[in-house]
Parts: sequence; structure tokens; C-alpha cells
Amino acid sequence: MSKFPENFLWGGAVAAHQVEGGWNADGKGISIVDVLTKGEHGVPRKMTDNVEAGEVYPNHQAVDFYHRYSQDIALFAEMGFKCFRTSIAWSRIFPNGDESTPNEAGLAFYDRLIDNLLSQGIEPVITLSHFEMPYHLVKAYGGWASRKVVDCFVRFCETVFTRYRDKVTYWITFNEINNQLNWDYPLFGYCNSGVIFTEHDHPEQMLYQVLHHQFVASAKVVALGHVINPDFKIGSMIHMMPLYPATCHPDDLLASQRAMRDKYLCSDVQVRGHYPHYIWPQWAAKGIQVAMDDDDVQILENGRADFLAISYYMTNIVDANPPEEDENALFSASRLNPHLPASDWGWQIDPKGLRYALSELYERYEKPIFVVENGLGALDTMEASGEINDDYRISYLSQHIEALGEAISQDGVDVIGYTPWGCIDCVSFTTGEYRKRYGFIYVDRHDDGSGDFSRHRKKSFYWYQSVIANNGLTE
Ligand code: BG6
Repeated sequence: MSKFPENFLWGGAVAAHQVEGGWNADGKGISIVDVLTKGEHGVPRKMTDNVEAGEVYPNHQAVDFYHRYSQDIALFAEMGFKCFRTSIAWSRIFPNGDESTPNEAGLAFYDRLIDNLLSQGIEPVITLSHFEMPYHLVKAYGGWASRKVVDCFVRFCETVFTRYRDKVTYWITFNEINNQLNWDYPLFGYCNSGVIFTEHDHPEQMLYQVLHHQFVASAKVVALGHVINPDFKIGSMIHMMPLYPATCHPDDLLASQRAMRDKYLCSDVQVRGHYPHYIWPQWAAKGIQVAMDDDDVQILENGRADFLAISYYMTNIVDANPPEEDENALFSASRLNPHLPASDWGWQIDPKGLRYALSELYERYEKPIFVVENGLGALDTMEASGEINDDYRISYLSQHIEALGEAISQDGVDVIGYTPWGCIDCVSFTTGEYRKRYGFIYVDRHDDGSGDFSRHRKKSFYWYQSVIANNGLTE
């Protein structure tokens, strides 16, 4: 018997900028990722001042979904997708972000995309901000450091909520809003908010000010969405990366508890509707003062998220007394777990951590959880026969789906859906590479600019088709 409910939302996830291409088509403005160059594992992507000659900007073409969405959706339908998560690129709708009227050609693209999904019986799940704010908002206002951007975002959301009132039910406000708590990594703040925190005198002061603006924006959007259509389900989204104590020493336990507050802060505010108790002493100790308007407390309270969306890729460990230098660590705040294997990009593989994460989150919030990202970025090879035998991906996803099923059937967690990341190969967010592939569908496009963008079914394509047909049975 299946461990998954009958109406479970099986599908896949992408983001507009990582698949669409067409970066300046039909009136689209420049977004923050359009000035982000290609990097690789260990080589950071650069943010250039404008689109500069001689630089490589992989998101400009991505995998050309802008022109090939119809063919791609047919492949999603063939796999049996019940839902498809993508984002609406803000800069297609408001090219500069601060206009008062939208770009009709940009909306027309999403009309066609959403209608196509619905005609195939696939429920759209729409992220409103997935690392692609209009670049003009960064240049003119300093990104989310300015409260002015709150109004721009609300206008954008009102436009698409109204347009798709009867077509879209599931919305997510900010993708992985808590990435930027890793404020010492320029890419995270830049993609979340258009702000590079390390360029500011008091980086954490800026971080929390930016976050406050996004919390207010998110809450306003949730409340507004419920007026436009009371049946809308509007979620908050965090990257969920459990940080286990490195040992059973009580100091490590406390260090892990403290570190986890950085993971939970955003969902604590967005799901519960107020700041959590632990933030005030933390801000006092660091001399942080966040500017808030008088009615913000009420705005946060009135705009609580309907569900929690998470991405889940890995776990790490936290050590109360970490070594000064740890060249293997992916993040400054955590270390690698000696008990776990890792992907070629150093992301540790921990299916049980997903079950643990789901239980922790459900106990904390008692709200439905949507796993909107999970997956293995790997190097795929096409055989001479044309086959792509990605058994490693099947193994990774099988183990995570098993863990998800156990969280539902044995722990009683209310999980509403599962959309593996990059269901079609796309441009990597952290590295800008094509070769870091996640898809069930292979795209013939490579980091040296070669490839004809043709699509090919991988072995995992047929496997996932069977998983969906059998409501979660992985063999
Ligand atoms: C998440 C993002 O952090 O992880 C996606 O929401 C991203 O945009 C995904 O692509 C995987 O990361 P990467 O760097 O492997 O593409």
C-alpha cells in the first residue's frame, strides 16, 4: 500500500532564470542574474556592473525554455506530473520593477505557459521571487535595503495574482529566503535581495533590515492574495539544512541549536506571524537595530503563510569549537559529517535527514509542508547509443522518497507534494554551470557553448514515471 495520500502532488521544479533564456525578449528588463557570470565549483560567479562584452552569462540563454516550453511540458505530462513549480520572472512583467503598468508581452508568455500546463492537467506552482529581481531596483534603490521595493513587489504580485486568479492556487513568496543568513557569501545576499552584505560597514545590520522588508512584503502579499482569491494557498519557503551537533557534548548541542535558529528565523516569522523570542537578545548583543513602521507588527500577524515550502539537499554538523581552517567545509558556519557521502560538488547526501527535517518542521509549525526542491547535481554522460544511465540519481531520489514516505506514514507529517529540483537540466544557481545536471530530461547544452538544446529522456525519466504512476513506489 502506498505511503502517500491519493492527491499527493508529484512533479518537478525549476526557476524562470535557470531555464527560460530569452533574457531580453519581448520587453523583458535586465534582472540581477543577467549580470551574473559563469563560475564553477570553487570559483565564484561574478556580479558585473552591467552586461559586459567578453563575459559569459549562462542565464541569457539557459535551456531556451522560453521557446520550447510546450515540448517540455509534453515531456512532463508524459512522466505523469501532477504539478510543475516555476517562477514568474519579475523583470518580464515590470522590466525596471518600478513602473506603474505591466509589460503585456511578458504576461502573455505566462498566459501561454500556464494555459499549456492546465491543458495537460498539470497544476502550476508559482514562485514570485526566485533570485531574479529587476536589476534597476538594485541600481536605483539598493535592492531590498530600500522599503520602496516592498511596494514594487506588492504591485508585481497583485498583477499576477489578478491575472491568474482562476488558474493558479499554489504560490510561494520568496525562494529560500533564509539563504542570505549566510551573509558572508556574496552570492546569497545578491540573489535573495540584490545586496552584498560584506560591502556594508555592519553587514548583519543590513541583513536584518533587508529581511524585515521582505517579511513585510511577504505578509502584505499573503493578505492581498487571500482577498483576490480566498482559495489561494500562499507559502513561505526556506532551504532546510539540518545542522547536527558534531558530538554529544552539551556545548555542541547548544551550538547546533543556535545555528539552527538561522535556518528557522524566516519561517518562524512568516508562518507564525511574529519575530521569535531568540532574536531580541541576539540583536541586542550585536548592536542591531532594525527600522520598523508602527503597523508592521500587525502586517506580519495578518499575513501568515498557509504552508511551508522547503528545499532539502543536505545536512552538515556544527562544532562548538571548530578548527580555524577547514578547507573541506562548504559554509563558514558548519562542517562536513564524517558519516555521510557527498556529491561531486561536496553536498552531503542524507536521506534520513529529510525525514528528521520534516518532523522537526511539522512539530514546530503544524502547517502542511511542500518539498519543492530536492535532487542530485551530477555529471551525466550520454552513451554512444544515446542512453543516459543515471542510476546514481535514481538511487538518490529513491532513498529520499522512501524517507518522505516514512515521515508521512510513520511520523504523521502532512506533506502535500514533492517536486525534485531541475526536472529538466538547467543552469546551476551556485556555479552557473550546465554540467551540474539534476534533470530527468537531458538538455544538449554545454559549458563551452556547444550543443543544440535538444531534449533526451534519461533512465530516471522512466523510473520517475513509474514512481508517479504507483504513487511513490520506488521499485
Ligand atoms: C536551490 C535553489 O538553492 O538549489 C535553486 O533554489 C538551485 O535555484 C538549487 O538551482 C540547486 O543549486 P545548484 O547550485 O546546484 O543549482
